[in-house]
Amino acid sequence: MTDTTLFPQPARLEISGQPYALMKDARIIAEDRALGEALAGYLRPATGFALPVLAADGAASADNTIILEAIAASDSPEAYSLTASGTTLRLRAAHRRGFLHGFQTIRQLLPRQILSSEVVPGVEWTMPGLEIDDEPAFGWRGLHLDVGRHFFPLDFIKKFIDLLAFYKFNTFHWHLTEDQGWRIEIKKYPRLTEVGGFRAETVVGLSNSGEYDGQPYGGFYTQDEIREAVAYAEARGITIVPEIEMPGHAVAALTAYPQLGCRDEGYQVRRRWSIAKDIFCAGKDEVFTFLEDVLDEALALFPSEYIHIGGDEAPKDRWEACPACQARIQSEGLADEHELQSWFIRRIEGWLNARGRKLLGWDEILEGGLAPNATVMSWRGSEGGIAAANAGHDVVMTPNTYCYLDYYQSHDTDSEPLAIPSILPLEQVWDYVVIPEQITKEKRHHILGGQGNIWTEYMPESDHVEYMMFPRAIAIADVLWNHPQERNYAALVERLRQHLPSLDALGVNYRRTDEAASA
Ligand code: ACM
Ligand code: ZN
Repeated sequence: MTDTTLFPQPARLEISGQPYALMKDARIIAEDRALGEALAGYLRPATGFALPVLAADGAASADNTIILEAIAASDSPEAYSLTASGTTLRLRAAHRRGFLHGFQTIRQLLPRQILSSEVVPGVEWTMPGLEIDDEPAFGWRGLHLDVGRHFFPLDFIKKFIDLLAFYKFNTFHWHLTEDQGWRIEIKKYPRLTEVGGFRAETVVGLSNSGEYDGQPYGGFYTQDEIREAVAYAEARGITIVPEIEMPGHAVAALTAYPQLGCRDEGYQVRRRWSIAKDIFCAGKDEVFTFLEDVLDEALALFPSEYIHIGGDEAPKDRWEACPACQARIQSEGLADEHELQSWFIRRIEGWLNARGRKLLGWDEILEGGLAPNATVMSWRGSEGGIAAANAGHDVVMTPNTYCYLDYYQSHDTDSEPLAIPSILPLEQVWDYVVIPEQITKEKRHHILGGQGNIWTEYMPESDHVEYMMFPRAIAIADVLWNHPQERNYAALVERLRQHLPSLDALGVNYRRTDEAASA
């Protein structure tokens, strides 16, 4: 008999009734054929069962059926319930995403060989008899991936999306533009990827080592690939939120189109990390024409309501020295360069709002005054999120102190692969409290949820991304789904000990944590 360890932990799970057995002659009963086929697709590779999907069942008995039962709309669009007993599995949900979460629960409850991509003979596909009623605590449960510092091909993006779905995340924040590489094809500005998608070489070791590898590096996603990723994610209940960085993290774009900077020339796609002084000029109107053209193409690719415009780490040195930027400060009656950034973001927000989209930005967008409808992603701790929520703005919490999965996983950094010099062990991730006490009760609804961030300066390979993700991303998934009041780390470790072999079955590289490794 398999155990009932689930990540994330369901809101309510009760063992009851007969054990459930999935039989070869089971039928899937589903009004929504595509949903039924999706479940059949999950169950087929390991079992070899070709389960038929029927709109209704002529048989009088529910034996050997998996019933996907649509129920009246519920408050939580992601809620589902599951009962398993005998040879009947009944999954109820009001919305597609609820069913999709239920599929992942079924995958985690069956013997873990179900995760194999090939037939596994001799397995009894059983689970304990049980009832589950489940819904998430937060509507925004995300993971971010930086593909600017290192580029990961579409195949890995799909694997990443599959893993998000497995843990009931619903948002993939795709960080697509950086100083070190522009990764999204824009038809109107082909040099963005032709030139901006590649760097001459990459620093070896930490950013200031002074040593370079001499290897040209780059890559980008075509618009066809992006459409494929968006459709792949949507089919799995995941929204992709694209990030197009402005005004900072723009050196790759400036290398392609130098007239968009304050200096007009002298740019080179960055070969090392850290913060660049060169950013988009805020004085030239053609910068806004360019950004709106780019966003126009991004909006056509990404149906996401939220569009992330970055806004972080934009030093003001160039703006201070630029006649066009200074003229803008004068003509708009702004006090300083911080207000100029605020003016910049407001202008972009107006453009996005007029097209029915919402602007999301890192917490630096608070400096110089927040755009009227902006949503803030709080990363420099929780302070930005507290200030924004108390001012009546929506917030996504991703404090670096709990959510930065590029930090070392162990205090014993010498025994870990090179990372940015900060430390975030699993135990601390597990203490992540999404809603800080400093947010007044009546403003707490502004906290949409949270996410983990994966910055890839020190992750040239996708298996290293997986290593940094896991198991920490699982703890984030659990916190965002349940937001448990009590956090028992020993219990988490024990649950992980049960669960982590599932990642082996999925072909995922993960850190075998000191305590949770010995399954
Ligand atoms: C960030 O980590 N610069 C948002
Ligand atoms: Zn300028």
